[in-house]
Amino acid sequence: MLNDIQETLYTEEQIQAKVRELGAAISRDYEGRNPLVICVLKGAFIFMADLAKNITVPIALDFMAVSSYGNSTRSSGEVRIVKDLDTSVEGRDVIIVEDIIDSGLTLSYIIDVLERRNALSVHVVALFDKPGRRTVDLNADYTGFVIPDAFVVGYGLDYAEKYRNLPFVGVLKPEIYSS
Ligand code: XMP
Ligand code: MG
Repeated sequence: MLNDIQETLYTEEQIQAKVRELGAAISRDYEGRNPLVICVLKGAFIFMADLAKNITVPIALDFMAVSSYGNSTRSSGEVRIVKDLDTSVEGRDVIIVEDIIDSGLTLSYIIDVLERRNALSVHVVALFDKPGRRTVDLNADYTGFVIPDAFVVGYGLDYAEKYRNLPFVGVLKPEIYSS
């Protein structure tokens, strides 16, 4: 698995430091509130776990899975809910935890769904952001790292369901995509 990585973009230590910063910012901003923190599966599962440990206000957790990508590295442009929330968002402060924002289609779809369900507020924390690839006007409220247009894996992010368990984030060797 490690042999497939061309370059490390962010080490485990760099990611953990950033997650602590994001947790501290969210804790400050949500002082006195009890937000519902929603993990967008599967990519955000490690980020969610680490972030939750760094949030000091009481939170509730829930999980949602949407599909917009097959095993390819490009968005199909189509988003649908594969696993819905267990919790009602009506009247709740909601924080969406996303691994990476690319075109923005996935998030704009999820935000739209939550607003139509009458969430009190909807904010977004994304560990990675590729602003150069946006096709819809959307920005996260909390962003970890702004990255160039490269397909990254690790720390929850996959290529064809592999590499999610790497503790760091890197770029794959080009031959992995073509094999
Ligand atoms: P959109 O285009 O809807 O995409 O903003 C967001 C989702 O696309 C996936 N994605 C990636 N997954 N490495 C990955 O492993 C990447 O570089 C990458 N870029 C986008 C991801 O699932 C994200 O939630
Ligand atoms: Mg994802």
